[in-house]
Amino acid sequence: MSNPSLLILPGDGIGPEVMAEVRKIIDWYGTKRDLTFDVSEDLVGGAAYDKHGVPLADATMDKAQEVDAVLLGAVGGPKYDSLDFSVKPERGLLRLRKEMDLYANLRPAQCFDALADFSSLKRDVVAGLDIMIVRELTSGVYFGEPRGIFEEGNERVGINTQRYTESEIDRVARSAFELAMKRDKKLCSMEKANVMESGVLWREVVTKVGEDYPEVELSHMYADAGAMQLTRWPKQFDVIVTDNLFGDLLSDLAAMLTGSLGMLPSASLGAPMANGRPKALYEPVHGSAPDIAGQGKANPIACILSFAMALRYSFDAGDEATRLEEAVNAVLADGLRTADLLGEEGVQPVSTSEMGDAIVAKLDASL
Ligand code: IPM
Ligand code: MG
Repeated sequence: MSNPSLLILPGDGIGPEVMAEVRKIIDWYGTKRDLTFDVSEDLVGGAAYDKHGVPLADATMDKAQEVDAVLLGAVGGPKYDSLDFSVKPERGLLRLRKEMDLYANLRPAQCFDALADFSSLKRDVVAGLDIMIVRELTSGVYFGEPRGIFEEGNERVGINTQRYTESEIDRVARSAFELAMKRDKKLCSMEKANVMESGVLWREVVTKVGEDYPEVELSHMYADAGAMQLTRWPKQFDVIVTDNLFGDLLSDLAAMLTGSLGMLPSASLGAPMANGRPKALYEPVHGSAPDIAGQGKANPIACILSFAMALRYSFDAGDEATRLEEAVNAVLADGLRTADLLGEEGVQPVSTSEMGDAIVAKLDASL
């Protein structure tokens, strides 16, 4: 059997730096665990725009459709702020999500014990936190038509459209219920059914899908109240399912519960391919952080944990994913901190590559 294939798209800003550390982990699995990947690398975002004039070349898109999984760093930067909307770096990422039809975006927010004091919330509110946000990723106001800036009378009007079909809601709800079944069997669905018809439909369809999962305790919350509850007592949640825009907001909020955006991975999954694996793209939740790019200050953990998610969801290697997550946990427990995690007395930051090396050393120690 041929090796599983991985397309790596480091992107912009700190993307290439954090991805270099993931390469070390990938190499480790090849040499030490006989888990070898056929890795190819290409451009996305501003880096692709600089070379091709578009944030994602067609050839790269085709490649992404063929591989077993895509691993992406980050896109964007101030250099591209004035570009036309259609070629902004972010459009490269949105094209990947849309054309690969990656409708279920899994964003875990886990608070590592060693970092419970980094949250702006009290330790007892966040310690031990382990929740999963399932964000719909290919529809809603991000993609709905009509959209644009139009002339209307003597002024302009900016329009975006929130649009959800029953089947779009059904499939992401099923992904969320399936996950809930493997976790604490608790699912909270968030929308704004009090003001939006798309929210009314969302609630109806999720409730209907719930009939197929009688073991899962389903609740509904308006997304604004959900944001409040997430900061008040986040441990009341296990899995949350929500639409594209609310999911974007709520997942940033949830990320900060854990102390740093530099820690959080994500998986974007679509329908199964012919080989049974889901179409998949893995990426850290953080952005390209242009202010610290190229200085060795970035935290590679979010990207490394994204690879752990790839091991679990694409490559049937849940044990190896756990091994990697434990290695990260061990390094943090030893007190190693990148610059985003400072604040404890007397702690000197380690560089991006020192963090990567330390995680590899913990992997070695796990054998
Ligand atoms: C995210 C980001 C993206 C989004 C941007 C970069 C297009 O904020 O993945 O959360 O809005 O979805
Ligand atoms: Mg976001």
